[in-house]
Amino acid sequence: MLKKVAESVSWVGKTDWELRRFHGNEYSTHRGSTYNSYLVQDKKTALIDTVWKPFAAEFVDNLKKEIDLNDIDFVIANHAEIDHSGALPELLREIPDVPVYCTKNGIASLKGHYHEDWNFNPVKTGDSISLGSKELFFVEAKMLHWPDSMFCYLSGENILFSNDAFGQHYATEEMFNDLVDNCELYQEAIKYYANILTPFSILVTKKIDELLGMKLPVDMICPSHGVIWRNNPLQIVEQYQKWADSYKEDQVTIIYDTMWNATKRMAEAVAEGIKRTGTAARVKLFKVSESDSNDIITEIFRSKAVIAGSPTINRGILTSVAAILEEIRGLGLKEKQAAAFGSYGWSGESPGIIDSGLKEAGFNIIGEPLKLSWNPDKEQIQECLKWGEKLNIKD
Ligand code: FEO
Repeated sequence: MLKKVAESVSWVGKTDWELRRFHGNEYSTHRGSTYNSYLVQDKKTALIDTVWKPFAAEFVDNLKKEIDLNDIDFVIANHAEIDHSGALPELLREIPDVPVYCTKNGIASLKGHYHEDWNFNPVKTGDSISLGSKELFFVEAKMLHWPDSMFCYLSGENILFSNDAFGQHYATEEMFNDLVDNCELYQEAIKYYANILTPFSILVTKKIDELLGMKLPVDMICPSHGVIWRNNPLQIVEQYQKWADSYKEDQVTIIYDTMWNATKRMAEAVAEGIKRTGTAARVKLFKVSESDSNDIITEIFRSKAVIAGSPTINRGILTSVAAILEEIRGLGLKEKQAAAFGSYGWSGESPGIIDSGLKEAGFNIIGEPLKLSWNPDKEQIQECLKWGEKLNIKD
């Protein structure tokens, strides 16, 4: 369906209210998502990105209801991932000669996905195409978050089409940031940053500096997922600058899993011990096997310290805790403090294994691993309280 965004720009994407898992099963989308595609109609017509493959036929049918596909002069593929390029094969079967503008890496990715030799036109930062009265400028955004990623900027309307950057997995019918619940919007925006963009934070900072250095007026930021930022659009850019800069709030997150509640009881006592110090920090506990891993990652992203626990099983740790440690390792979070704990019956390797995992993830260890045998009695609970109290958590 075509929805007006600005004088020459319409949204022609797909709102996916049903989506609950994304990137295979890797990312939870409690609020669905949108695949934003934009039609720019000046003297010439450009289509910016498409939609995810399952919606390809619907997308092309809807486009046909609005325009003659032969009127499309340029297809811009800001990013080759399937959620944005998925309708290209269906579309380009109808208009096979239309030029496709993307980065050099974009050509490699699109060919890798679809094995088609479309009319590719590689572009780099500074290149532009004229639509008649307005121009589309291209800005490469390598590794934000794929090697092919690119932004484009529409002069005259002052719109930045930022693809995944500044996006959110957030289905809405309202489409603009000033029309939606901003608490929900920012929950989805920070979850998106924490889970997808954290490994590229250094590049985020550099790209924002480069964009701001261009001194382009920005009246709107149109990402490829979620709402369009039209009310104070640079607010999300400023927020990204903060998130990219070793972001932390006054929060301590305790993550654990448990078999017979011994490690759970340790976790609760450690939380009480931390609060006994009189800290104003929020302390939150998550049993990882029962919690959404992307939501936990978001809480860890917001935290200054992470305390992780697992009982020992087969000289190792529970798979749920191993999985979240693997996610943490890959994200490359900066300036996080951490400590490990866990219960055991006879061998007791788990706190040491978690401690090593946290070190490998680059966390600063703030206490010796705490291990207790069997289910803690009163004295052992006191030990947990004191351990929590003595953790050297800094601001
Ligand atoms: Fe929304 Fe990287 O795709």
